[in-house]
Amino acid sequence: MSESGLIDVFVFMGDQPSDVFRQYTTLTGSAPIPPKFSLAYHQCRWNYVDEADVRSVDDNFDVHDIPADVIWLDIEYTDRKKYFTWDVEKFPHPAEMVANLTAKGRKLVAIIDPHIKREAGYFLHEDATEKGYYVKDKDGKDYEGWCWPGSSSYLDFFNPEASKYYSERYKFENFPGTSNDVHIWNDMNEPSIQHHEQNRGRNLSKRHVHNEYGLWNIRATHQGMLDRSDNKYRPFILTRSAFAGTQRFAAVWTGDNAAEWGHLAASLPMCLSLSLAGISFCGADVGGFFKYPEAELMTRWYQAGAFQPFFRAHSHIETKRREPWLYEPSTTALIRDANRRRYALIDFWYTLFYEHSKDGLPVMRPLFQHYPKEEATFTIDDQYLLGDKLLVRPVTSAGATSVKVYFPGTESNTLWYDVDSYQARVAAGYANIDVTLAKIPVYQRGGSIIPRKERVRRSSLLMADDPYTLVVALDSNNTASGSLYIDDGETYEYKKKKYIYAKISYTTEEMTYSFVNDKATYPTQSWVERIVIAGIKVPPKTAKLHQGDKQTALQMTLHRGNDVLVVRKPAATMAQPWKITFSY
Ligand code: NOJ
Repeated sequence: MSESGLIDVFVFMGDQPSDVFRQYTTLTGSAPIPPKFSLAYHQCRWNYVDEADVRSVDDNFDVHDIPADVIWLDIEYTDRKKYFTWDVEKFPHPAEMVANLTAKGRKLVAIIDPHIKREAGYFLHEDATEKGYYVKDKDGKDYEGWCWPGSSSYLDFFNPEASKYYSERYKFENFPGTSNDVHIWNDMNEPSIQHHEQNRGRNLSKRHVHNEYGLWNIRATHQGMLDRSDNKYRPFILTRSAFAGTQRFAAVWTGDNAAEWGHLAASLPMCLSLSLAGISFCGADVGGFFKYPEAELMTRWYQAGAFQPFFRAHSHIETKRREPWLYEPSTTALIRDANRRRYALIDFWYTLFYEHSKDGLPVMRPLFQHYPKEEATFTIDDQYLLGDKLLVRPVTSAGATSVKVYFPGTESNTLWYDVDSYQARVAAGYANIDVTLAKIPVYQRGGSIIPRKERVRRSSLLMADDPYTLVVALDSNNTASGSLYIDDGETYEYKKKKYIYAKISYTTEEMTYSFVNDKATYPTQSWVERIVIAGIKVPPKTAKLHQGDKQTALQMTLHRGNDVLVVRKPAATMAQPWKITFSY
């Protein structure tokens, strides 16, 4: 039903699911490469109440050896809900607070909502009133609504002048205490105004534009964040409202969920649906926003969140505090483990998002995308693929001792390797998998190579130059391939060919690391620390690294039932292509 006038219908001809997804993002856009930190772990709460609280949360991540990249501030940091201001009693030194975070490679995200407090003397309200930047009611007067600040009006982002004015509020001089390390959360950007309004000169009624309001809001924020850094740094924005194309500007979360098992389970189909609608950068509040998650639910939620694109814990102001160290040490340990798994795969995530920016395919994929001939996959939404390489089946029910996992690829005898044990199983549809509380059922497809960073540090930035472990999971032909994207993680220099996009291939004779775009380079300090080859049938006798003019004999060891070969310390630099040859 179209509530107000015409409806535009687009038909994507396919014919494979991947073609349809690509056709959709060709029309509406794909997400640009996000700043790398935003793919790491985010710690949010309504609210971290003052600077000392922020400091203590930040410090506790280090005390408890849990990696984290971002601390978030919800609405209470403002002077009585007046956005672009600070509560000077509780946050007297925002720049210093941010500096404390950045010293550890961390960032701050601050919330800015689109409703404006109607208070005399508040610059934003006075400017918007005087310049006519507010949404109007049916009589052409400034529409007055009610939100966190009390009586509020809404900036009219459909008015280019109002949007420009709003974008300028993000300039550092207009929002003191902020810097390139402060990113933005645009919440509440789907005002449910019931009445008919006339929009400035353009005769738009709210019902025409309701779904688009949030998009125009984040576009203005995005522009403002680009302008504040002279187009140097990639903005990170989180939005609640979304429309076709939102993915070009912001990540989306699924809104106010609750600490209930059903809501944890629902996060999967919700994010899968968003992903298919072009919004790959999606996630749900880890732990649940309303109510309090007991230890088991919290553990399972972290384990699930660690494998969803946007990974942020959040909670309602009236709930009990639940930072990871406030649980029993055994629970804290499991949360630590989930976060560390996320950080170990940070470059895999980053590569997936780079590939999404190029090919428009979802990062988080339904099984039917790659296995459209297997009818059983059509309805599966409690498990998914990351790229075409990892199969993830989070545990989302209480007291689980086993889960049903569908292993796709039955026709091609696809192998799936348990990422913890490297034990492979041949795809044969459903299987029951035993789980302990520590287990996250994740499988690597035979035929794929995944980059890992195993020296987990306090933040992803501190891991930038760390070495890689390459995990090669062999298919039944003893081959595998993968990719790796590296750049500075935060600027647009990649547009000037300052990046590496490498293909990594393995056959029984050789393993190669070669640049897809050989005009692009990036002076990374990273190197290969270890290569793990799982599913090996006949181990090679010798391995030799070739890089530049140098050739080096490499050490190898066999593990498990002699089917996991570890090439030890190849020490090849990732800044240049390399090759390892094997002899038997
Ligand atoms: C609603 C949002 O969905 C929630 O995440 C946030 O904490 C509150 N608004 C307060 O800003």
